[in-house]
Parts: sequence; C-alpha cells; structure tokens
Amino acid sequence: MSKMVSEHAKLYRNVLRELRRSVASHRKVNRTVAVNFRSIVENMRKSESAQVRHDLENAALFLRSQREHKAYARFMTPVHPTTRLLKCDPACISFLASSDLPSISSQETSQALATAALHLQNLETVVFPTETVYGLGALALDASAASKIFSTKGRPPDNPLIVHVSSFAMLRTLLPPDYMLSEAYQALMKHFWPGALTLLFPRNADVVPTIISANQPTVAIRMPSHPVARALIAVANAPLAAPSANTSGKPSPTRAEHVQQDLEGKTGIILDGGPCGVGVESTVVDGLHEDGNIRVLRPGGVTVEEIERVLEKEMTGHIPKVLVHRRDFRDEAIEHAPTTPGMKYRHYSPSVPVTLLFTSSSPPENTRPMTITSFINALIHSKLDEDQCKIGMMATDESKIWDHLHTASGIEWHRYSLGSVTEPAAAAHLLFDGLLTLDRAGVDQILIEEVHESREGLAVMNRVRKAAGESIWLTID
Ligand code: TXA
Ligand code: MG
Repeated sequence: MSKMVSEHAKLYRNVLRELRRSVASHRKVNRTVAVNFRSIVENMRKSESAQVRHDLENAALFLRSQREHKAYARFMTPVHPTTRLLKCDPACISFLASSDLPSISSQETSQALATAALHLQNLETVVFPTETVYGLGALALDASAASKIFSTKGRPPDNPLIVHVSSFAMLRTLLPPDYMLSEAYQALMKHFWPGALTLLFPRNADVVPTIISANQPTVAIRMPSHPVARALIAVANAPLAAPSANTSGKPSPTRAEHVQQDLEGKTGIILDGGPCGVGVESTVVDGLHEDGNIRVLRPGGVTVEEIERVLEKEMTGHIPKVLVHRRDFRDEAIEHAPTTPGMKYRHYSPSVPVTLLFTSSSPPENTRPMTITSFINALIHSKLDEDQCKIGMMATDESKIWDHLHTASGIEWHRYSLGSVTEPAAAAHLLFDGLLTLDRAGVDQILIEEVHESREGLAVMNRVRKAAGESIWLTID
C-alpha cells in the first residue's frame, strides 16, 4: 500500500510540474482552467486505484506531449535539425512465400531501409508509407520509443496505437501463448493480410507496453501490404507502433510532401515511397466479443461488403454478423471511451473550416434544408469584408450542385475532384490529399458534397463527418 501511495505522489508531482510549466510559460493560460485542473488532480490523488494511477500517468504524458509539441510548432526548434527524406522504391522490394525477409533489388532502397531501421533501434521515430496513409513509426515494444510518437504528434495518450507486423511469426510473439485464432479471424487474415485491416487481439501484458494500448485489455494489430512498410518492419526485426504521420487533429498524410509540410524538424527520417494507394486508414475490427459478431469500430480501406463476402464464403458454421459502430450498434461505454477511433478528439481537420453539404440524403427531423441560392448568398455575405472569397469545393465529377455554385460571382472557386461517383475507392484515395491541397492553396473554407455511404464511401463519409464543423442540407431551387 505504501508503495502505491508513493507512486501516486510521484505521478501527482509530475502532473503538477507539467501544469506549472505550462502556466509559467509566456502563453496566457486561463487561471480558472489551471485551478480547476489542479483540484481535479488533487481529488484523484485521494483514490488509490490502478485506474487513477494510469489516469495520472496519462495526464502527465498528455501535458508534456502538448508542451513539447507546441514548443516545436511555435519556435520551430527542430528536434532533428534536418529531417532526411530518403527515397524507397516499392517496386524494388518483394516478399517470397518461403521467407519473412524481403528481397531488395535496389542499393538506394536497401540502404534507406537499413538507415531507418537503425534509427528505430536507437529509439527514434521514422515516417514510412503504408498502403493506407503514411505512418509515424517507433518500436512498439519499447515504451520510451513509443512515447515519442505521442509528443511528436501532440497525441492524447489515452488514444491507443496500432502495432504493425511483417509476418505471422511476428504476430505470434505479441499474443498470449494460449490464445487461439477464431475461425472468423483466420478467414479475415487469409483474405486481407497483408492489407488495410486492423484486428483487435487480447493484449499480452508481458510483451506489449500499456502505453500502446492505453491500458485496454486489447491491442490492435495489422500487417501492412505496402512493400516499404513491410520491409522496414522485417529489416528492423521488430513490431512498429504507427499512427498516421500527422499532427493530432489534422488530415492524415498520403504523400511524403504532406508529412514534410507538417512534421519537418520533428522526426529524423521520412521514407518516401510515393503516394499511398488506398488513401484512408485501415478498417479497425473487434471480433473478440462472446457473440462472435464482427464489430467495425472504424470503417476504412477494407470495406464492410468485402468482409461480409469473405465471412460468407469461408465460414463453415454460423456466419457472424458484421456490425458497424454508430450505424448498427451504439454502446454507451464505447461512445465515451477514447478508444473508439476518432470519437473523442477533433479529427482530420485542416486549418480552415470544412462544411459538409448533403445533396441526396434527407435532413434529420427538425432540420430545414436550405436552397442553393440562399446558401450561396450566405456564403458571400459571411465574407463581405474580404476582397475576394476563396472557396474550395470537393465533390465527385457528377456533383449535383457544382453547376449552380461555380457561376456565382464574388467567389474564387478551387475545385478538387473526388473522381467518379461510380468509383468510391477514388474518393477515398483523394480525400486527404484534397483537404491538404486546398488548405495549402489558401482557401477560406472547404465545402465537401456528400458521397454515397457504400463500399469505400462509408470510410470517406466517416472522415468527412469528423472533419466538418457544420453540415447543411441543400435543395436545388
Ligand atoms: O491505416 C492505418 O491504420 C494507419 C497506418 C499508419 O497504419 N494508422 C492509423 O493509426 O490510422 P491511428 O493511430 O491514426 O488510428 C488508430 C485507431 C485509433 O483511432 C484508435 O482509437 C484505434 O485505432 N485503436 C487502436 N488500438 C485500439 C484498441 N485496443 N481498441 C480499440 N481501438 C483501438
Ligand atoms: Mg490518425
């Protein structure tokens, strides 16, 4: 008990030190917030549960990660005076079924991978391409390496990380020794690994540090199919924790340039393997429930339709249902848990406001749709004091409203196509690039027209809803 109390005291002091540092900095900190925070921490200290200890640990790490992150951003004090961009050609890397090690036919790529692997072994972060988005990687089984991910991104520490493996043998080393894969998991892994599917597994507490899983009993694992990602993990010979390589809250990067613009000076190495194919993050699936059903916590690169098709084809007995969070099930505990991808924190937001325009779906009860003419008038009116208002518009080629919008005078339009409406994979591929490109072009606001929520469209709308500060239902008058 006395050990527990002294651990609490140490953690508590850490939190207060971090808090004082942020209060004492040149920035204006709201005193009420500081005082309230202090009293919350003091109340927490009175409890002795392990959960409170964990919360205190998180609070200290969060405050530190915010402080460090803000310091990088404000003063541009690079932790890595130069961020090296190393070219890695995915076409020169292949994996044979007989070996877990890649064969690499280019000297430049092979050297870049070796340099990056060394950097990782020195407990530093490395940015690498995956088939979904670029990831900010660090050794998953080393808590101090993994903690750098949080400070580099300014990521809240209660948001768990995905662990990336390069082989099934590596996966085995992470799981509890007596854990047996379910038939559904075997089918999903057979079809989608390597690939854009993340599965939750029971966490082996002897191997996976708590910082990775934010103290959850589960750990999220995936095997990326991008040759550079898989080769890096294999060459480093260690599982890598990797969230998307962006400052927390910003859109995920799908090109090395996106990462450079955001994390220059904050990470030592960026492996440039060209643009990511899928463009949205992996699908996060929880198949650990007693009922055997497959719960999609975050829709992503592997579609719900594909998962259903594979389960139907491969399962011998009862075919599990595929339930999508917030569409087919809602769970109070999940809604409030930070582990539900993207629920608790601001997400995918560029620096300018994003507005989601519904042009097909009907509005919810008590919401009146707006005519397109009044929408345009409101848009112009809200920017009256500016010389010219620049608006970014993201929509499929078959947009229902573009013809009406772009003829409006007083607005400089920047159109970014999300491809054809018949190809939702194209919208997924283009979404983050569009948000980041328009943001860089200096638009004042970004409008996104809804896409149909089937196949990859489900993942696209999931991201757009989180990026958008407001939603408007339009009628064409
Ligand atoms: O495609 C991807 O998944 C990319 C690339 C780099 O692999 N990674 C990625 O990581 O998107 P991140 O950290 O941006 O998103 C991971 C999501 C988080 O929102 C987190 O809530 C969820 O996965 N997650 C991780 N571990 C979890 C767990 N044990 N239980 C529930 N959700 C978990
Ligand atoms: Mg992310």
